[in-house]
Amino acid sequence: MEVIVKNTYEEMSALAARIIAELIHRKPNCILGLATGSTPVGTYKALIRLHKNEGLDFSKVTTFNLDEYVGLSPDHDQSYRYFMNDNLFNHINIKKSNTHVPDGMAEDIPAACEAYERKIKKAGGLDIQLLGIGGNGHIAFNEPGSSLGSRTRVKTLDDQTIQDNARFFKSIDEVPRYAVTMGIGTIMEARQLILLANKENKADAILKTVEGPITAMVPATIVQLHPRATIITDKAAASKLTREYPEEPRVLKLKHHEESCCASTDSPSYAKASEGRPRKRTVRREKVGNRR
Ligand code: GLP
Repeated sequence: MEVIVKNTYEEMSALAARIIAELIHRKPNCILGLATGSTPVGTYKALIRLHKNEGLDFSKVTTFNLDEYVGLSPDHDQSYRYFMNDNLFNHINIKKSNTHVPDGMAEDIPAACEAYERKIKKAGGLDIQLLGIGGNGHIAFNEPGSSLGSRTRVKTLDDQTIQDNARFFKSIDEVPRYAVTMGIGTIMEARQLILLANKENKADAILKTVEGPITAMVPATIVQLHPRATIITDKAAASKLTREYPEEPRVLKLKHHEESCCASTDSPSYAKASEGRPRKRTVRREKVGNRR
């Protein structure tokens, strides 16, 4: 697991967008797992800028979102489908038919959850899953106590989550009590995870996630087990961490190889190596450090 602490929210967002943009460049038909909440808004703004100013092309990209409130229709301004259209999809050249958000209005929600899982598999699996983190350490809507092997299903929201999310609704009574969410097992099958956190109210959750033991009581701690997870925070969210973490992804220097590349994310050659394809030449990491 790699932890990167940036000075500001803008820098955190720019790095996350860069990692996603690199993926799109090397695999134009990639499958992105996307998140909602205020945390990834800066990343989406940066991706929109890359699309408008540098032609970042989303025409072949497919997306799957983590979660959706039960009972909110796509045109409800607090539904996650509405959020995604408003904050990203309406501003880039993605085909709406390639974007997927769980259906919180499905008549048969368990069947819709199974269908969602099948769609992700059929698409080839998630190349990158972007994650925020709840103040209680939840990822997507996998609240404390969620099975670490869970699949897409309905979850009852935790009291803290209802309170945290009440700021988006007219009153706390309007916050839905249930949500459909990708499971922790589903998320862990993504080939790469990027977990973002900013602001001081995430500092406890980040401390537990990065330096604490893996426990279902803090679902985000499961990312410690992922072979290719990057946690990017701003200074405030990292303020309780006890160790030093770099500001940039570590660079791998490959001996007998002309390229040096970004260890965590954005080198095509590293990506190939990490996907387990045998390389013809023997390469040796000169400096690996403690990145995972
Ligand atoms: C919601 C979402 C999560 C998100 C969390 C944090 O509960 N289901 O995916 O990570 O909120 O939101 P924010 O980024 O607004 O702090």
